[in-house]
Amino acid sequence: MLDPALNDRVALVTGASGGIGRAIARGLAAEGAAVACGYGANGEPAQRLAAEIVDGGGRAVALGADLRDAAAGEALVARTRSELGEIDVLVNNAGLGSRRTWEETTLDEFDEAYAVNVRAAFALAQLTLPGMRDRGFGRVLMMSSVAGLTGGIVGPHYAAAKSALHGLTHFLAGRLAGAGVTVNALAPALVKDTGMLPGDPGELARRIPVGRLGRPGEVADLALAVLRNGYITSQVISVDGGMYPH
Ligand SMILES: NC(=O)c1ccc[n+]([C@@H]2O[C@H](COP(=O)([O-])OP(=O)(O)OC[C@H]3O[C@@H](n4cnc5c(N)ncnc54)[C@H](OP(=O)(O)O)[C@@H]3O)[C@@H](O)[C@H]2O)c1
Repeated sequence: MLDPALNDRVALVTGASGGIGRAIARGLAAEGAAVACGYGANGEPAQRLAAEIVDGGGRAVALGADLRDAAAGEALVARTRSELGEIDVLVNNAGLGSRRTWEETTLDEFDEAYAVNVRAAFALAQLTLPGMRDRGFGRVLMMSSVAGLTGGIVGPHYAAAKSALHGLTHFLAGRLAGAGVTVNALAPALVKDTGMLPGDPGELARRIPVGRLGRPGEVADLALAVLRNGYITSQVISVDGGMYPH
């Protein structure tokens, strides 16, 4: 049965050309939501995903926007609205961060990680929250990382940017809680079939208490549960095979 919380809603999922975003976009479409599948440099997988959803009887569109650009969010929201309607669900999933030591991380890399992981998430929330509040329903989900809780292994730019998403989540959630709008973050660790796995899968799996990498579908399952639920807000929820708080 289609979930009444998500059926006929309009969702914007950034980073839908990647592993986790694709799984979340598919899950939202399966619940009956119309989905704008955001992408950065790789249009082909997002277009394939949107076509797959449309072929299955759903509504979807692939929209490119380079979120390193501060103005990109505005065009992305405007195009989602004109193609699909007002945005009810925002999944700030696009992320970036190459593996670096703290000594070698440049300030440009720090700024770039911050722009895509946090600034764009805020810009998109700021553009879409007024409509959600006015209509009395909204869901914002940030894709953080275990790195935002423990520091992780990618680098200081990535850890700092993901931690900043937690503060943003708590701040916004507190302001919107009475308006039917929830704001939460997920903190996955080391998910296979993604472009962001920071190293050799076998070596990385040994760092995880459950002994294996996570699957995009496991992150998407949790995302969908949070997006359906109107009573979970201001949470950072781990989906990490037991990495945090150990
Ligand atoms: N994989 C993991 O182990 C892991 C663990 C914890 C958290 N996460 C988080 O999960 C989220 C999804 O990543 P993923 O694991 O699915 O990796 P992925 O397959 O590499 O996907 C990353 C997504 O971010 C998008 N993106 C990157 N730079 C962008 C830019 N400048 N403008 C717009 N979009 C941009 C990419 O779009 P294009 O390819 O089209 O540029 C891609 O769709 C990220 O926020 C990541 O930090 C991942």
